[in-house]
Amino acid sequence: MTVIASFPTARPRRLRLSATIRRMVRETTLTPADFIYPLFVRHGRDVQRPVSSMPGVYQWSVDRLPAEAESIARLGIPAVILFGIPARKDPTGSENYDPNGIVPQAIRAIKAAVPELIVISDMCFCEYTDHGHCGLINPGPGHEDHIATLPEGYLLNDPTLELLGRASVVHAEAGADIIAPSGMLDGMVGAIRKALDEAGFTHVAIMSYAAKYASSFYGPFRDAAESPPAFGDRSQYQMDPANAREALKECALDVMEGADILMVKPALPYLDIIRAVRERFDLPIAAYQVSGEYSMIKAAAANGWLDERRVALEALTAIKRAGADMILTYFAKDAVKWLQE
Ligand code: PBG
Repeated sequence: MTVIASFPTARPRRLRLSATIRRMVRETTLTPADFIYPLFVRHGRDVQRPVSSMPGVYQWSVDRLPAEAESIARLGIPAVILFGIPARKDPTGSENYDPNGIVPQAIRAIKAAVPELIVISDMCFCEYTDHGHCGLINPGPGHEDHIATLPEGYLLNDPTLELLGRASVVHAEAGADIIAPSGMLDGMVGAIRKALDEAGFTHVAIMSYAAKYASSFYGPFRDAAESPPAFGDRSQYQMDPANAREALKECALDVMEGADILMVKPALPYLDIIRAVRERFDLPIAAYQVSGEYSMIKAAAANGWLDERRVALEALTAIKRAGADMILTYFAKDAVKWLQE
């Protein structure tokens, strides 16, 4: 840091005098290419169902996706990430690896309408399982599949990896450009990389939810994706919000397993993690401004307590300033419009 003078010679306010000069010295700028827009898809026809806890966010039926994807692409947003609400939930989340499941249908519809739009598939089982956890769980004693050495309700790691690999191949076959495993299972990136490569999808990238915290900021999402856990919470697989060094371990493991992009999630309460990951790793970094971060701003704005536009752009700028190369955000479309005005 070079300090060439002190007050009264040095007056930092000189560079804040007008909007033009502030623009000249601005260190961080948002562009449409920074954003990834989440889309929720469900079965049915002509559905645009509002998510009550997330004003402005909808569940869409597949037939409505081409128009929505075109409007997203027209704004200059390069990518969407898909979350599916299945017709039926079961213990293994089988719709996730059904080639005619809701997400493969959605991927095909979007890629047919807007081939250049990058389609990211959120790869997790919590939307698809009847118990709402992110993979297979150890059933209770007395059940034929009970594993006596593991606790009841334990998320079964390695058997789930096999299903994650299988579902990833199904989504890649449908046309997904990027697979984004979000379950925080040990070895998930390596298992998916191996499954994709063996099936010939060496060109499909992996965006790992590498440092994903067991956060209460996901509350509204569970409403949007209809995926709350039926018992307990996700603390046995997602990270403890109190830990920072552990995030670097998680990222290091994912880099070794072949991740192409590392994600930190949530974003604004975890700017220190984004910064630490940025400093330690050379991969592109994504940050997920999650549902609770969105809904808090929406709710405060609806009460007249905050200026939605200014607060949202400030939060997004802060996330980018901390070191994110791309931001998954429900504000993506609005943010692009605000930036254009
Ligand atoms: C798991 C997943 C979740 C989110 C993204 N992927 C929910 C969870 O882990 O409970 C949360 C996103 C948000 O809150 O906006 N499939």
